[in-house]
Amino acid sequence: MTQDFTIRNGEVDDKSLIQKYGEIDPEWALNEGLLAVAFSDTSFHVFIAETSKEAVGYGLMRMERGSNRDAMIYVVYISKHARRQGYGMALMNHMLETAANSNCKIVRLMVNVDNVSACTLYKNLGFTERRIEMHLNLENK
Ligand SMILES: CC(C)(COP(=O)(O)OP(=O)(O)OC[C@H]1O[C@@H](n2cnc3c(N)ncnc32)[C@H](O)[C@@H]1OP(=O)(O)O)[C@@H](O)C(=O)NCCC(=O)NCCS
Repeated sequence: MTQDFTIRNGEVDDKSLIQKYGEIDPEWALNEGLLAVAFSDTSFHVFIAETSKEAVGYGLMRMERGSNRDAMIYVVYISKHARRQGYGMALMNHMLETAANSNCKIVRLMVNVDNVSACTLYKNLGFTERRIEMHLNLENK
């Protein structure tokens, strides 16, 4: 990780950056509805990870309102060329700190079992499996 790496709160102008990531990497394009809500609903928080040269990724987290709050991490995304340099871990730690400082008790997220990089990252941070979603492919029956 470069020393000039920072994480800042996202602003409406960052919508185009997130859309650009989706064009470059369609598998991780953020649904337009969620993108709109991310910048209009105050329970959503966008974080932009950047070096002095460029933005390298973003995170999206929702924190429930009220005293017994939970948080849900919707996205952690790092540009392909910037991966495996510690940025994803730093972004996750920043979101977890933000949630802890806002008195959230639990942080949830969803991940596909075949997403090895994300599963490893989350497990290294201490996340544990709490729910299993099952699929049956009817085309193969
Ligand atoms: C998942 C993702 C955010 C990780 O970001 P990253 O900046 O590459 O992660 P880091 O460099 O901080 O890696 C932290 C740790 O995660 C694990 N990890 C990351 N990429 C990995 C990979 N390809 N294979 C195995 N472990 C991996 C490692 O334990 C790593 O620590 P190490 O490098 O010391 O071994 C990134 O791969 C990404 O944006 N993927 C596409 C979007 C995505 O899958 N998001 C998550 C679901 S919403």
